[in-house]
Amino acid sequence: MNILMINGTMRKGSTYHVGKMLIDKIATKEDQVIELFLPKDMPEFCRGCGRCIMEDETKCFDYLMYMKRLTGLIDKANLLILTSPVHVMHVTGAMKSMLDHYGYRFMVHRPGASMFRKQAVCIATAAGGGVRSTLKDMKISLQFWGAARVYTYGMSVASLGWDGVSADKKERIDRDLSKLVLKISKDPDGVNPGIKTRALFYIMRSFHKKGMSPVDDNYWKEMGWLGKERPWKLLKKEEL
Ligand SMILES: Cc1cc2nc3c(=O)[nH]c(=O)nc-3n(C[C@H](O)[C@H](O)[C@H](O)COP(=O)(O)O)c2cc1C
Repeated sequence: MNILMINGTMRKGSTYHVGKMLIDKIATKEDQVIELFLPKDMPEFCRGCGRCIMEDETKCFDYLMYMKRLTGLIDKANLLILTSPVHVMHVTGAMKSMLDHYGYRFMVHRPGASMFRKQAVCIATAAGGGVRSTLKDMKISLQFWGAARVYTYGMSVASLGWDGVSADKKERIDRDLSKLVLKISKDPDGVNPGIKTRALFYIMRSFHKKGMSPVDDNYWKEMGWLGKERPWKLLKKEEL
């Protein structure tokens, strides 16, 4: 299994530790684990030019320097973990900035085929409040990207750093993550999108059948999704 963790902060604080605990519980020796840190691994803001949506994602000013590598890693991952501390009730600016760059991957445009067989986990920690809204920030993108299964885990840790988190809380996090691992590990080869994702796919498919924008319509046509192909059918290895 390929595991990719994208951290919305460079800080190896509480949020990172929760993500790392999850990886330690789930990864085997054979698994490839890659950890990325924002903003280092994608430091640019979306300029809002819309060229990724209207022309091609390779036209993004940040494609060659950052997005090409990042997208390649996302596509190869079987398990995608997005983490963010709560910063003023939402994801960090760095995480939001990265998510903005993937507007073109929303299902209404050109979702990546491999997303529909991928599992994803969103992790957030806060000192007090804002965990729900922060998890939602990340979950919304993953769902609209077409991720087959999206799990969330958040904890109010009552601290500004991992060292200040109480032993009780750490034990609880450990227990919660063990339960989450059971869900993720259940039939990892049979990951299929749920009814909501499929319904969204079919709504978008009907739009593209009628015709929305030539770039997106052609993509759906080339993927065979306007015909009989479906992205959640077993993809060939080279497509993953
Ligand atoms: C700029 C900034 C904004 C924050 N905003 C919130 C907030 O809105 N709600 C909250 O409960 N904690 C907030 N916090 C606290 C962090 O979310 C909390 O300490 C978190 O566990 C830190 O995770 P980290 O150790 O991975 O950086 C904020 C911290 C910073 C630095």
